[in-house]
Amino acid sequence: MHKPHLLLAHEYWRNHLRPSDFAIDMTCGNGHDTLLLSDCLPLGLVYAIDIQEQAVKNTRMRLEGRSNIHLFHQSHETLPPLPKAPALIVYNLGYLPGGDKSITTQTETTLRSLQASLAALAPDGALSITCYPGHEEGAREETAVRAWVNSLSEKKFFHEWRPGSPTLFWIVAH
Ligand SMILES: C[S@@+](CC[C@H](N)C(=O)[O-])C[C@H]1O[C@@H](n2cnc3c(N)ncnc32)[C@H](O)[C@@H]1O
Repeated sequence: MHKPHLLLAHEYWRNHLRPSDFAIDMTCGNGHDTLLLSDCLPLGLVYAIDIQEQAVKNTRMRLEGRSNIHLFHQSHETLPPLPKAPALIVYNLGYLPGGDKSITTQTETTLRSLQASLAALAPDGALSITCYPGHEEGAREETAVRAWVNSLSEKKFFHEWRPGSPTLFWIVAH
């Protein structure tokens, strides 16, 4: 499947990360994004979080044998204790592909989590957020995330392919 928003997000991550950095995947789902982060950080560390046990299991299976990854079965509303300030925190919002579509990220908790993540970033660290406005909660979430991003004084970039398609937000901390 052609997923230009994810390919572009991955390109940003590859260009941004250094091999010993620390990164967090706030919605690890089936582990595709976590795998890419793990590849970018051969001397570093990835924390991967998901609210669904199935997602954590799927990510564990995909990343089997790797030592630079810690998994957390919890909501990203609360950050686990961090070993150092993250260079990158990623959110691929929405529901688990192939899973229960009713378990989707929620606007209010996403905004609280984004605020905490921005405060936790290392200097020049980045936030990568992919929103899916093609379903009802996703549309509400995308509008709220866009307003939040617009309110920030940090450097930011939007990529939107056409109305209703996924949006990528990239924010670089001061
Ligand atoms: C679009 S999927 C992520 C895809 C994933 N990054 C991948 O590469 O396969 C969104 C994920 O967000 C998770 N999620 C929903 N609410 C959450 C929350 N409050 N905290 C953490 N994860 C959450 C869902 O369980 C789902 O797995």
